Amino acid sequence: MNNIEIRNLHFYYDKEEEILKGLNLNFDERSTAIIGQNGAGKTTFVKLLKGLLRPKSGDIIINGINTKSVSAAKLSKHIGMVFQNPDDQIFKNKVIDEVMFGPLNIGQSREEAKKTQNLLLRKLAYLMRLIKIHMILA
Ligand SMILES: Nc1ncnc2c1ncn2[C@@H]1O[C@H](COP(=O)(O)OP(=O)(O)O)[C@@H](O)[C@H]1O
Ligand SMILES: [Mg+2]
Repeated sequence: MNNIEIRNLHFYYDKEEEILKGLNLNFDERSTAIIGQNGAGKTTFVKLLKGLLRPKSGDIIINGINTKSVSAAKLSKHIGMVFQNPDDQIFKNKVIDEVMFGPLNIGQSREEAKKTQNLLLRKLAYLMRLIKIHMILA
């Protein structure tokens, strides 16, 4: 079961202006939206989760791994990020190649990566169906 634990997280770019002031949160496998006005710190928070930024104090524990103790490259097996604008992200010509890129990049064989992309696209299709049903019912 995937889990993210945030313990007393503090972060600032400039000491004079603290962006995250003692955040305590727990994420399980349920979908969660983080909302807030422009400049509230959403992107900063996501970069901290990805290990692209490091906490000034406090801890981020992803599936039992403290982001302080591993590289962003190692963390990428556990956490990914998709950009708001697909044009910033998608660069392969075929969907299958795009979806296999991540698994191959973290060391899966072509065989494994094919299985992973198959599973991921099935999950996505299921989610899209749920969203459609939700939209019809709403
Ligand atoms: N690389 C950076 N250097 C300095 N300040 C930054 C940097 N990135 C973001 N900020 C500042 O941190 C605050 C939070 O920004 P950000 O995380 O991008 O918010 P959001 O994604 O919610 O719009 C803003 O005040 C922004 O100006
Ligand atoms: Mg943002």
